[in-house]
Amino acid sequence: MTKGTVKIKFANGENIPLELHKVRVVQKLNLVPIERRLEALQEGGFNTFRLSTKDVFLDMLTDSGTNAMSDNQMAAMMQADDAYAGSQSFVRLQKAVEDVLGKKYLLPVHQGRAAENIISNVYVKKGSLVPMNYHFTTAMAHITQYGGKIAELLYDEAYVINSNHPFKGNMNIEVLEATILEHGAENVPFIRMEASTNLIGGQPFSVQNLRDVRRVADKYNIRLVLDASLLGENAYLVIQREPEFANSTMEEVMKTMTGLADLVYFSARKLSSSRGGGICTDKLEIYKELEALVPLFEGFLTYGGISVREIEAMAVGLYETLDENMICQSPNFIRYLVDELTKNGVPMIRPAGVLGAHVDAMQICSHIPQTQYPAGALAAAFFLISGVRGMERGSVSNQRDENGNETYADMELMRLAVPRRVFTLSQIKYVIDRLTWLYNNREMIGGLRFVYEPPVLRFFMGGLEPISDWPEKLVAKFKADFGDSL
Ligand code: F0G
Repeated sequence: MTKGTVKIKFANGENIPLELHKVRVVQKLNLVPIERRLEALQEGGFNTFRLSTKDVFLDMLTDSGTNAMSDNQMAAMMQADDAYAGSQSFVRLQKAVEDVLGKKYLLPVHQGRAAENIISNVYVKKGSLVPMNYHFTTAMAHITQYGGKIAELLYDEAYVINSNHPFKGNMNIEVLEATILEHGAENVPFIRMEASTNLIGGQPFSVQNLRDVRRVADKYNIRLVLDASLLGENAYLVIQREPEFANSTMEEVMKTMTGLADLVYFSARKLSSSRGGGICTDKLEIYKELEALVPLFEGFLTYGGISVREIEAMAVGLYETLDENMICQSPNFIRYLVDELTKNGVPMIRPAGVLGAHVDAMQICSHIPQTQYPAGALAAAFFLISGVRGMERGSVSNQRDENGNETYADMELMRLAVPRRVFTLSQIKYVIDRLTWLYNNREMIGGLRFVYEPPVLRFFMGGLEPISDWPEKLVAKFKADFGDSL
């Protein structure tokens, strides 16, 4: 794999991310009128998870399972070996995991949260505490489901919206050690580090920080678990931002990171632009501790609930994460989006991270109290005026505490995911245009309240309603400003 990213200058001095791929399969999109978008929101409980894609123009809900697949991935799917046990597709995947992640033993699982379920089932019990740089919704839900608690140990800088800190995902080492001492190492089954820390805006940690975490883990004899779902992007930003690795290849950085962890798990829906997931380790005793649960929850050990076609796509996709020119496409589009929106005054999480651009709803909707879910309101309002589906990453995505009280999120964000190689630059420009318009009309956005709240992972299927007729008023303003434009 060649080192570095290709640099292409424009004669006019413009600095835009040029696509290094061509579109060979397309899917038609519809932009439905704003009246229909309002109905769709009402039908979907003002929750963008509950929208139907027939009403969505640009789907920026997530990159999970929505990254564009390569021609080579599609081709590999045709050679899948359909076998319940001992499939050659799995042998190819094992080899890819060993080549790319440097781990010998692999347990396949149907997606990332299935790995979290198995790991939590085996290691977490009542009284356990899992320190982590920051939680991810499903990781936390599984740990708490098995009676454990989590401790989020980022440095204060991580919560600064407009920052130039290169590694906001770093674990606070001093607090980590103090937390272990306070709770007793015997109650800490593992430390969890999440690559490209999702919920604080797709922010990476440095390799040096991971080494420091490893040192603490060794000192107290605690397992180090790496959530590698967004490992490729974290490695890319390490090359960009950590001087020691400025001349390293993706392979070197990725293997350095996985080499520091006892156990690596991932959502292949993100990591390898496919479906599926996996848990891998070099340690036979860890493999053995987890092995029995795969046939119980997932499927036989050579498919783990994943279709063999997807296993083939996963193997090829893993090798493709080593291509810096592929991996940088989404982060570069995100940086463009963040820079342009910042120029227009829209408060964004900075520096630009990975996975998506993150919009600070706390500032945009400073007139909406957290009890009325500013990030949920912003995501609903943005869909209404643009047909672009983002995701609430704020208090709606938080879970209630053990006494049933609301826990308000540290950050109220709307995430606009930029899956790999899916959108064009003019679509990104449309997003910039409409979000700037909404920002300039931000005082028209109102709050939401729950009308249906599921007990677990409420953000997925929960239903909300606006607390006033603000959506109708926003429609009227849109029509006044845009006339007959969709
Ligand atoms: N870990 C991280 C860091 C994730 O971002 C995700 C999923 C998971 C674990 C769970 O993996 O979905 O395959 O079960 N993130 C998606 C998102 C859902 O939209 O950010 P999964």
